[in-house]
Amino acid sequence: MSIDNKPLIAVTGATSKQGRSVVATLLASQRFRVRAFTRRKDSPEALRLAKLGAEIATVPLELGRQKDLVAAFKGAAGAFLMTPPIAPPETSEAPLGRQLADAAVEAGVKHIVFSTLENVDKITGGTKYAPHFTDKARVADYIRGLPVSHSFIMLAFFYTNLLEYYAPRMEGDTLLLPIYLPEDFAAPFVDPLTATGPVVLEIFSHPERYNGKTLPIVGDIISPREMVETFQRVTGRKAEYRNAFTREGLLTYFPEFAANEFLVREILGMVEYAVEYGYFGKEHDLEWSRRLAPETLNWEQFLRTSGWRGDKRSFGG
Ligand SMILES: NC(=O)c1ccc[n+]([C@@H]2O[C@H](COP(=O)([O-])OP(=O)(O)OC[C@H]3O[C@@H](n4cnc5c(N)ncnc54)[C@H](OP(=O)(O)O)[C@@H]3O)[C@@H](O)[C@H]2O)c1
Repeated sequence: MSIDNKPLIAVTGATSKQGRSVVATLLASQRFRVRAFTRRKDSPEALRLAKLGAEIATVPLELGRQKDLVAAFKGAAGAFLMTPPIAPPETSEAPLGRQLADAAVEAGVKHIVFSTLENVDKITGGTKYAPHFTDKARVADYIRGLPVSHSFIMLAFFYTNLLEYYAPRMEGDTLLLPIYLPEDFAAPFVDPLTATGPVVLEIFSHPERYNGKTLPIVGDIISPREMVETFQRVTGRKAEYRNAFTREGLLTYFPEFAANEFLVREILGMVEYAVEYGYFGKEHDLEWSRRLAPETLNWEQFLRTSGWRGDKRSFGG
């Protein structure tokens, strides 16, 4: 197949952790061309994607951009759609997701992959507040009603949360890891930077096989206690778990969150949901993505390949 007649996949949030995994994997497969959506075509991440061979489209993921989005999706056979992090009380995530899907359909895209999460509101009867889950589920419901073939991916908690948003701190000779889950609660985790792409490549390679399906992406199911033990073994550093899953624990280690009470409620709501109901619905096969891509990193492999030793990291984007 020559370069020109390879199917084109449009990737929103292309410089995000999920997006860059998708772009890199699709291009490396040599089966697809990629159009990468970004707000800044001269950012280091966008330049890196261009160097890999992605066509860059400058279009922000925000409401009121339907026309620009339709133009940017034109000619694409497939679209990977995701919503960027949007903190409450801002409520634009569901309308933004619907707008992305509408624009892709209007442009003639044949298959949509949307990065969704569970409908916490429905599952918990409205008792847990986690709009960044529920809003994605509402977008998925909307996409189910559109005249387009579609699949959904659902990523586990990101390992990178501990590097990016909940960074450890030193106390004496010990590194303290404040984690937003109870110490012995085993939760699904994943590396979005490497695990998203292989699943999305599989879906776009066989869209008819995955039409209507929701596919969880999991790298490990592990408790904070095991994460800290593994961290000590891999890095040789003395480390201890600290509770950041109650309001008091969270605000002790991350007092900056107190500036947004909605965000505090959302984090606590998400954690209580995950602990009481399970992060993923019981109908999902959590082994699926690891069978598809056995190289999917578990926590220990993530520590070894990333070389993380407890420093705060930013992932650009
Ligand atoms: N953290 C977790 O554990 C977890 C688990 C499952 C799902 N999620 C979901 O994953 C999503 C975030 O994915 P990610 O962490 O891969 O993203 P990320 O690394 O934070 O990157 C977000 C990207 O969105 C792009 N963007 C475009 N318009 C934007 C806007 N108006 N505001 C902010 N960013 C904008 C930015 O690219 P440009 O600057 O190039 O435009 C940026 O690269 C969220 O919806 C989150 O709820 C998170």
